[in-house]
Amino acid sequence: MYDLNQIQKDFPILAQTMYDGQKLVYLDNAATTQKPYEVLKAIQEHYAYDNANVHRGAHYLSNRSTQRFEWAREVVRDFLNAGCTEEIVFTHGTTESINMVASGLPETWFRAGDAIVVTEMEHHSNLVPWQMLCKRLGLELRILHFCDDGMLHLDELDSLMDEHVRFVSFCHVSNVLGTVNPIEKIIKRAHDVGAYVLVDGTQAIQHIPIDVRTLDCDFYCFSGHKVYGPNGIGVLYGRKEVLSQLNPIYFGGEMVDEVSLQDTTFGKLPYRLEAGTPNYPGAIAMAIALQYITKIGICEIGHHEAALMDYAQDQLSQICGIQIYGSPEKRIGSVSFNLKGIDCYDLACMLDKMGIAVRAGSHCAQPVMAHYGVSGMARASFAMYSSEAEIDTLCCGIQRISKIFSRR
Ligand code: ALA
Repeated sequence: MYDLNQIQKDFPILAQTMYDGQKLVYLDNAATTQKPYEVLKAIQEHYAYDNANVHRGAHYLSNRSTQRFEWAREVVRDFLNAGCTEEIVFTHGTTESINMVASGLPETWFRAGDAIVVTEMEHHSNLVPWQMLCKRLGLELRILHFCDDGMLHLDELDSLMDEHVRFVSFCHVSNVLGTVNPIEKIIKRAHDVGAYVLVDGTQAIQHIPIDVRTLDCDFYCFSGHKVYGPNGIGVLYGRKEVLSQLNPIYFGGEMVDEVSLQDTTFGKLPYRLEAGTPNYPGAIAMAIALQYITKIGICEIGHHEAALMDYAQDQLSQICGIQIYGSPEKRIGSVSFNLKGIDCYDLACMLDKMGIAVRAGSHCAQPVMAHYGVSGMARASFAMYSSEAEIDTLCCGIQRISKIFSRR
């Protein structure tokens, strides 16, 4: 039994009103999700009772803080079904996770003429780091395109994947189109040619159960603030054999083994990839968020959101002058659109005055905008607490705006 009413009550921010008393309709969940009481309480309790730096102290509080931090790592491991906690690296978020991989891969893995494959639908954070790596090492960046329906052009895999491809990096779910990509297929094709694979799970993990061992990806990453956890914390999962080959890109405390004035040896996984004081309060609160998701049930959340997405597409498509981008077979989380004759920023600002929060712009995915020949789109994105009533409010809002503009 999916108790939407109770779930909404668990998120205090949702109860507030905006401007002239309009109820908040928060549909910007792909940008960041709201936090349940349990997460807020965990942050407060950590600082109120447990706070001390981890892995450093000989004292009681430091040990307690360390135990909670390592407990959080185990919660993440379990959530992803990773093989061991050494495979779980805490980062500041997905952007850092991807950069750590793109900059930390051993140069000896590559020869001139080798290639990296990404898709046309990537967020800039899963495109620019690979562009930079290709420029630095003289590699070819190959692009797997998508069709207008928002689905990847899988036929291109035949020409893209050959023995030159060393690494493939792509999103599980598009942050603009909401497309759920057939990642098992792509991972297998990449492995067949001997390439390693990173999956950007930022827009997937809050909607879809993830089992990294079944997926057989080499890396999987996500951000805490998109799974109902705090900002400034994220995860890089790496298969142990592959992760152990990744060079650290940050150097400093806690990641070392022995340090002399002239040289340093590095410590063990995962610590050698976590230089400096980690965001342990964030990791603990993120683990509480993952437990909250597990309590509600990730499959139940997925079913609720899938029904909501069907409803949203159906309702939005009835609005005169609306263009919805893509019609993928499986869409989750986000749906992007434009209203004829209205700039997406104006649309978002006018919706905001009605208490409706959507994002407008390029969504850090300019190549997706270029694909459709637009400079921006409005995007509604859903979470476990979103409702059909909110979609109705959104659609009514868009219709009102459309009428105002058509009278001009
Ligand atoms: N990556 C986030 C989004 O798509 C910020 O909105």
